[in-house]
Amino acid sequence: MNKIIYKCNSCNATTKKWSGKCDACGSWNTLAEDTGLSIGPKGKTLGIQRGRLIPLNTINSSETPPKRILSTISELDRVLGGGLVQASAILVGGDPGIGKSTLLLQAAAQFSQNGLKTIYISGEEAESQIRMRAQRLQLDNKTLKLGTETNLRDILTTLENEKPGLAIIDSIQTLWADNIDSAPGSVSQVRAACHELVLFAKKNNVAIILVGHVTKDGQIAGPRVVEHMVDTVLYFEGDREHQFRIIRSVKNRYGAAGEIGVFEMTGSGLSEVLNPSAFFLSERENPVPGSAVFAGIEGTRPVLVEIQALVAPSTLVSPRRAVVGLDSNRLSMILAVFEARCNISFSGMDVYLNVAGGIKIKEPAADLAIAAALLSAINDTPIKKETVIFGEISLSGALRATSQAENRLKEAQKLGFNYAIASSLIKTKQGSTIKLLKYSDLNEFVSEQIRLKEL
Ligand code: TYD
Ligand code: MG
Repeated sequence: MNKIIYKCNSCNATTKKWSGKCDACGSWNTLAEDTGLSIGPKGKTLGIQRGRLIPLNTINSSETPPKRILSTISELDRVLGGGLVQASAILVGGDPGIGKSTLLLQAAAQFSQNGLKTIYISGEEAESQIRMRAQRLQLDNKTLKLGTETNLRDILTTLENEKPGLAIIDSIQTLWADNIDSAPGSVSQVRAACHELVLFAKKNNVAIILVGHVTKDGQIAGPRVVEHMVDTVLYFEGDREHQFRIIRSVKNRYGAAGEIGVFEMTGSGLSEVLNPSAFFLSERENPVPGSAVFAGIEGTRPVLVEIQALVAPSTLVSPRRAVVGLDSNRLSMILAVFEARCNISFSGMDVYLNVAGGIKIKEPAADLAIAAALLSAINDTPIKKETVIFGEISLSGALRATSQAENRLKEAQKLGFNYAIASSLIKTKQGSTIKLLKYSDLNEFVSEQIRLKEL
């Protein structure tokens, strides 16, 4: 039978008999029943193991920055935060058919050419299919090794024997661990396989890239269930109907999150787009009503994109609000500010909003560009030619200061823009040839646009 032990909260002495006063230190009302999980009389632990703790500064002094390996596909290196980190686990997600396997086969060939031993394991395609793809991509690489395994135990054994520096697994949804009793692609299989692979990566100093399909119908577990296990998560943005392929790092323990890499799908694989702004604006014609150019920041670089708005009388009881590439709550907010602060109403109108090129804009600095596009659409007047716009709108209608104004203006200047519309609170240095048109609130901007229309 287990005897109850009482322990003093003040001196940690133990006794078998409870009393109001501790015999050891003389304090009153400090004896309490010992659960066995706390520290014993001489600082020894009872029932638990003490974890190892280290001071923070020793980590700093002895640790060097992680070694990085470049793929020399610079847009990919950029989203990875400056190259692939040794022993890191990366998840690449996206819709089926968007180009995950294509990009990773290209990357695998480059990495192995650059001296990193690379293994590409595909559970989705046969060897002949992968070879055909490689031919199409004009990859002539003898060092890159292919495998078509799906059993997790076999994959780990192969990796253990081969000792590569990088293993690419396409895809996590085809893997199955034989100790788990559910079908490949189920949440428990995907989780277990990812967990094992990440552990293996850390222990054996192998970088691992996992491919994950995003599934809309929920039949198989999507990459979201393993996002927390990996160091870096990259997602293909938009869908395959778009001309561009945008990869965004949504999480990165080794670099900036939110960074984008821009590619174009061609007949022979993905090719890098080194000047995204020029590409996103390439389809822009002469100024038309409802089009505004937003000077944004994506990750660490400025990117110009076109925001398009269309406003049309609605026959519906609750008019349509359709948004592609932006947050629909942002649109609702801007429409409400127009109504409440500027006396411009969109009720009874369908409103469509689109970002050209399939990129998703999350920055609040896009508010003013959205507002300008909407105003231009409802007034049926184009915005002045060669103008970029940025600025966050607050609920009062005031325009807030925007970070990195200098970078945005520099990019606009590089692309031949002459005017910029922004908040009066932004700070810029002299030297730019761009003419800045500053406004303190939305109302002021609206009055100016209406005055221009009447001229
Ligand atoms: P894929 O990489 O197989 O997509 P995922 O692995 O994300 O499912 O991409 C397949 C699509 O890309 C397919 O529709 C054909 C197209 N594609 C090209 O346009 N050019 C190419 O060189 C290749 C290899 C594929
Ligand atoms: Mg694929």
